[in-house]
Amino acid sequence: MSQTMLAVTFALALLPVKSIAAEGEEPPLIDIMTALQTYSHKADLSLRAKNIELLRFYTHELEEAIDELDAVESYGGFPISQKARTIMKPAYQQFENAVKGGDFQLIETKFEAMVTTCNSCHGATDRGFIVIKRTDANPFMQDFGIH
Ligand code: HEC
Repeated sequence: MSQTMLAVTFALALLPVKSIAAEGEEPPLIDIMTALQTYSHKADLSLRAKNIELLRFYTHELEEAIDELDAVESYGGFPISQKARTIMKPAYQQFENAVKGGDFQLIETKFEAMVTTCNSCHGATDRGFIVIKRTDANPFMQDFGIH
């Protein structure tokens, strides 16, 4: 092996291999938000179909997405994890308790209240132009009815 080739081989061996996100690494805030939107929309469609099993599934997915906000200490100068804790988590907790209870009227009230906090936090982070609004439209290749 020539000296140049040896040098190149050695240099390549030193290159960091970390090009793909490492396991346990948090997704960017925008991706967490897209997940929050998808899972709350799917929770809403399950709720409208009075499908408690599916609603419990999406309530859990929603919780995991909310928990990911814990790792976002700051974004654009705003303390995201702190705002998530104070603005949204209490409303999520009440929604989750209602889902556990299974009273659809109460679940509806708590879900509506939780969606309001999405917009409160957008307002509190200079994102008041991002307005979350519930809809019964189903754009997914999925049937939310009971099976
Ligand atoms: C902790 C504060 C906070 C909470 C709580 C919050 N958001 Fe956000 N959201 C933000 C911020 C900040 C951005 C802008 C992120 C950026 O600029 O990259 C954002 C952006 C978004 C976007 C734009 C991204 C996209 O995919 O189009 C959507 C949608 C969204 N949020 C949905 C929601 C929903 C739904 C909830 C409630 C279930 C929610 N957010 C709760 C702070 C919050």
